[in-house]
Amino acid sequence: MVHGKFITLEGGEGAGKTTQAAYIKEFLQSRGKHVLLTREPGGSPGAELIRGLLVDGAAYSWDALTEYLLFTAARRDHILKTIKPALEEGTWVVCDRFYDSSIVYQGYAKYVSLEILTTIYDFISEGITPDLTLILNITPEVGLMRAHKRSSHEDRFEKMSLQFHQEIRKGFLEIAKDYPERCVVVNAEEEESQIRDTIIKVILSHLF
Ligand code: TYD
Repeated sequence: MVHGKFITLEGGEGAGKTTQAAYIKEFLQSRGKHVLLTREPGGSPGAELIRGLLVDGAAYSWDALTEYLLFTAARRDHILKTIKPALEEGTWVVCDRFYDSSIVYQGYAKYVSLEILTTIYDFISEGITPDLTLILNITPEVGLMRAHKRSSHEDRFEKMSLQFHQEIRKGFLEIAKDYPERCVVVNAEEEESQIRDTIIKVILSHLF
């Protein structure tokens, strides 16, 4: 049976994941693939409801484990309703953030034990793991400046301190070291078109 590939984009605020995800979709379609562009938190109607709780500026402040459980509830729905059916019908799925964001934000930065994170993920994941994870690497100062230029009310996470964002960057680089077979670090401080070209090369060499 033809099975689609699963590509995730990760990185700190303002790294340009959303823009690059759209370029990836365009590129894969030009290669004749069916492509589904999706995001976390969100990506299915139920998960989008939970997203509203998590990213709205006025949201309640949960402890880090509760926050992880909410991201996980959204992720489970996203996997069941969107990601898994698409992959099974041969569609390539491009996802703006996924489980690595939980490892970094709730794990490395907010100290939920990695063992708890992975145990729960293994239980809910239906065996889904990315075939390729692109980690868009950017210094927090540059990333936050870019993020602030966008007008959005979904700013609860962007209000965190610079030190928090430095932790985030370090966390993603840590993941890249731990999973070199599926993760590629991309310099996200380059020009948008340069980043796009690099990503296309990576996709061609890893997935075609
Ligand atoms: P989003 O609005 O998509 O932000 P960005 O444009 O930076 O991708 O995501 C909302 C926030 O949720 C973002 O700051 C990262 C955070 N997040 C987690 O803390 N854990 C997770 O598992 C995920 C998927 C996101």
